[in-house]
Amino acid sequence: MNNQLQKEMWNGRAGASWVRHNTLLEQLLAEPGRRCMDSLSLPPSARLLDVGCGCGNQTLEWASRLDDSSKITGVDISEPMLTLANELKAANQNELQAQVEFIVGDASDSLFPNESFDAIYSRFGVMFFDNPPAAFATLREALKPKGQLGFVCWQSPSLNPFFTAPLQAALSVLPAPPPAKPGAPGPFGLADPDVIKHVLAEAGFNKPRIEPLALELSVGASQPFEEIFEELIQIGPAAALIAESDPSLKDRAREAVYERLRAFYSPGDGIGFEANFWLVTAQR
Ligand SMILES: C[S@@+](CC[C@H](N)C(=O)[O-])C[C@H]1O[C@@H](n2cnc3c(N)ncnc32)[C@H](O)[C@@H]1O
Repeated sequence: MNNQLQKEMWNGRAGASWVRHNTLLEQLLAEPGRRCMDSLSLPPSARLLDVGCGCGNQTLEWASRLDDSSKITGVDISEPMLTLANELKAANQNELQAQVEFIVGDASDSLFPNESFDAIYSRFGVMFFDNPPAAFATLREALKPKGQLGFVCWQSPSLNPFFTAPLQAALSVLPAPPPAKPGAPGPFGLADPDVIKHVLAEAGFNKPRIEPLALELSVGASQPFEEIFEELIQIGPAAALIAESDPSLKDRAREAVYERLRAFYSPGDGIGFEANFWLVTAQR
């Protein structure tokens, strides 16, 4: 079945981890999302789709940016993440109730009638398709004529120590898993700009723009290192590797990650990582 592995992951450990660490992840990742939002200009009463909306923070932020007659749909394969999204929506005692809806589903399936949306937006939610050209072609059909696509995704791991530093530290203790195929579904599925160009062209998009975005991501300015570490050690590829490792090696792997992350910490600023993204826009 299409995207089956991702469905299992995001309804399993990955989804649970994003729910548990929602506040920290939002603190880290809000800015690239905002930059991507700024790159789209929407008409009054806009219809917008947030693909792979996860815990819905960005979907709700869109509602605060658009007028009251706009309608924003968040779609995601992860039931636990959408449960939190609906809780966050319910905590907003205002017009968001009518403006925002969350739908469980695979965005690569034809879930929406043709020409439904003025824009499709995604922060880190479109790199996980088994067949990216087909998935993007389906999304394109859901856009109105001249409708806009805007998404932000990670550049290569070598430019993103948020992923690589803890992983390399864990790998100094643990055996390496089989290497992932370049372009395989995952956080770095669209890290190569030539792959993005190819996918958008195959899907029929016009006017593709792929721009680099470099930002300093930081968390925990007011927290002691130990506290931030206890959260970061539970997120990302190093966390998955440690979780699956031989119990006799877990403590040493944790210590290695602790020492490595300490190099990114300064009191008062918290932990900061240089991060590199692609900001992508295109038109139906
Ligand atoms: C890295 S998370 C990003 C979540 C959210 N956009 C954010 O930035 O907080 C990736 C999200 O994409 C979702 N996802 C992956 N494949 C999907 C698919 N085929 N259809 C819909 N959602 C998908 C996952 O369930 C997950 O919530």
